[in-house]
Amino acid sequence: MIFYFSGTGNSLWVARQIAERLDDELVSMTDKIDRTYTLKENERVGFVFPVYAWGPPTCVIDYISRVRIEKPTYLYFICTCGDDIGKTGEFFSKAISKRGWKCMAGYSITMPNTYVCLPGFNVDDKDLEHMKIENAKERIKFIADELAKRIQMSKFNCHEGAFPNLKTYVIRPFFHSFLMSPKLFHATDACTSCRMCEKKCPTQNIKVDGKPQWGENCTHCLACYHVCPSKAIQYGKRTQSKGQYQPKEFKS
Ligand SMILES: Cc1cc2nc3c(=O)[nH]c(=O)nc-3n(C[C@H](O)[C@H](O)[C@H](O)COP(=O)(O)O)c2cc1C
Repeated sequence: MIFYFSGTGNSLWVARQIAERLDDELVSMTDKIDRTYTLKENERVGFVFPVYAWGPPTCVIDYISRVRIEKPTYLYFICTCGDDIGKTGEFFSKAISKRGWKCMAGYSITMPNTYVCLPGFNVDDKDLEHMKIENAKERIKFIADELAKRIQMSKFNCHEGAFPNLKTYVIRPFFHSFLMSPKLFHATDACTSCRMCEKKCPTQNIKVDGKPQWGENCTHCLACYHVCPSKAIQYGKRTQSKGQYQPKEFKS
């Protein structure tokens, strides 16, 4: 069973391929938890999610604390990132331990970047985007082969990058407090009320009544910003000159 969360499609694309290769079932972490998940004998349990500010999205941590599932015998994670993940693996593992479970394997996969809200951050150019996706295909094969053997690791197979503790345990909380509020999202006059943002928001946090309105239940995934066909959605003034990530490969 693979539990997944994805804002702009990268993690869903990864989760789908792993599920296909391992013949595992996919469950969205945005679905209501209205049942207890029963596992087959020795069934693998995976969590696939993007890295937001060098950690798992808060909705993923919240889901892990609430999901009703039998104690897994083999549990792993795969996180997708644009660059590096800091101590995301350790952060995830601690959330798993709180449930009395153990995370036995973990991987990061570098995918096209979706973060655009600060100066110096933008989507990748087309060549880099293509290269990352091609490399990811190989990495997915490698990971699926290891998971099929139920590999157990003493150290996760992840790209932590420089200063991982500082990023996850010092900068991340600051990011969450000051740089991830839904209040700065707004739609410009280019908005045609097409409702794409409302449809794509994984937390159903957007209601379009003329123009989109954002509620408080935002994970800052930026799906609304990237999906808008008129580039009408902006985050303060910081995104006006930034690109959008609209990968053709993932449309299904
Ligand atoms: C709010 C936000 C924060 C992000 N933080 C990081 C980060 O700390 N490190 C990183 O390498 N990529 C970061 N990214 C990029 C995403 O992790 C990456 O593009 C991911 O594959 C997106 O997955 P998704 O399409 O499933 O949402 C961030 C993206 C967003 C929207």
